[in-house]
Amino acid sequence: MAIFSDDENIQKPLAINKNTKNKNLETKETAFDKSFESNIRPKKLDEYIGQSALKNTLKISIEAAKKRNTPLDHLLFYGPPGLGKTTLASVIANELNANIKITSAPALERPRDIIGILMSLKNGDILFIDEIHRLNKVTEEILYPAMEDFFLDMTTGKAQTVKTLRVPLPKFTLIGATTKAGELSGPLRDRFGIIHRLQFYTTQELSQVVTRTAKILDISVDKEGAAIIASRSRGTPRIANRLVKRVADYAFVKSDGKVDAAVAQEALSALNIDSNGLDGTDKALLKLIIEKYDGGPVGLETLAAALGEDSKTIEDVYEPYLLQEGIIQRTPRGRKISPEGYRLMGYKLPTIQQSLF
Ligand code: ADE
Repeated sequence: MAIFSDDENIQKPLAINKNTKNKNLETKETAFDKSFESNIRPKKLDEYIGQSALKNTLKISIEAAKKRNTPLDHLLFYGPPGLGKTTLASVIANELNANIKITSAPALERPRDIIGILMSLKNGDILFIDEIHRLNKVTEEILYPAMEDFFLDMTTGKAQTVKTLRVPLPKFTLIGATTKAGELSGPLRDRFGIIHRLQFYTTQELSQVVTRTAKILDISVDKEGAAIIASRSRGTPRIANRLVKRVADYAFVKSDGKVDAAVAQEALSALNIDSNGLDGTDKALLKLIIEKYDGGPVGLETLAAALGEDSKTIEDVYEPYLLQEGIIQRTPRGRKISPEGYRLMGYKLPTIQQSLF
C-alpha cells in the first residue's frame, strides 16, 4: 500500500489495536528485570539451553545465510511469555555479527515510527518486533513490501499530482514475537520464512538455566537446590531466573547464603510458591472456579472481575501453564477445572464430575 511521506498527509492508523489498554503485561517486566536479564542472557546458540529443535533449524539457516552472504529469512517466534523469544533474537544477531533493533508493536503507532526504523537499518541488521500481533493495519501494510522486496512504497504530493515512489531499503531480517500467533493476519504470517512455537522447558533444562544463572551471579546453589527451583518455575526460564535471585536473598539473610534443597524449599514456601510452581494468583483462580462456580465452566471475564485481575493477564500469563499441565481446561462455555486441578488443590472430585471423566 502507498504511504504519504508528507507529514500532513500521513495516514492515521486505521485501527489502534484493541489491546493497547492492557498495560499490565508490559509492567510484568520492569527496567530492573531487563538489566538483570541482559547480564545473564546467553550470547551464543550453544549457551542457549533448551528448544533443541528450533536451535538445530537456526544453526543451519544461520550458516546458510553466512555462506551465501544473504540475509536470514524473516522469523516468527510464538508461545507463552518468558520462554526466551527476545533472548533468542539477540543470540541470532550475535551469531550473525549483526546489529539488532528491538521494538514492540505498541510503540509503532504512527507510520513514521516504522518508516523511521526501517530507514535507519543497515544491510544484515535484525529488526525485532515484540507483540507483533498488536501491529495496526497501516504499519502492517508498510511492512509487507519491506519484508518481501526490501522496498518502502511512498506517495508524495496531493490529488492529481500524486507520485508513487519505491524507496529501497537495506536487506534486513525481521524477527517477530507473539504470545498469540492466531491473532496475526494471514498476509503477515505468510511473509515469515520460519515460524516456530517455543515450548515450555523441562525441569532438567530449567535446572541447567538455574545453575548457569547462579554461576554468573556468583550464587552458591547445589544440584538439589537447583532442581527444586527448576521444578517450581512453571516451565519458564524467566521465572527460574527470578526465583534464583529471591531464593539467594533468602539464603543470604536466613543462613550462610548457600542454597541447598532445604533452603530452596523454605524460601519458596515463604514466597507462597507451591511444589507445582503455582503462586497465590493461580491458587486464587483455581479456588474460585472450584468453590464459586462448581468447577466451571465459567467465562474468563467473570473470573477476571471476581479476582480483580486483568483478563488478558490471566489469559496470557497464568492460563498457558495451567492448560499445558492439564490443571484447567478451555471449553466453548468457559474455563473448567480438571480432575488433576481438584487433586492439586486438595479437593475431592465432586461425584457428578467423577461420572463425567
Ligand atoms: N536465560 C533465559 N533463557 C535461557 C536459555 N534458554 N538458556 C540459557 N539461559 C537462559
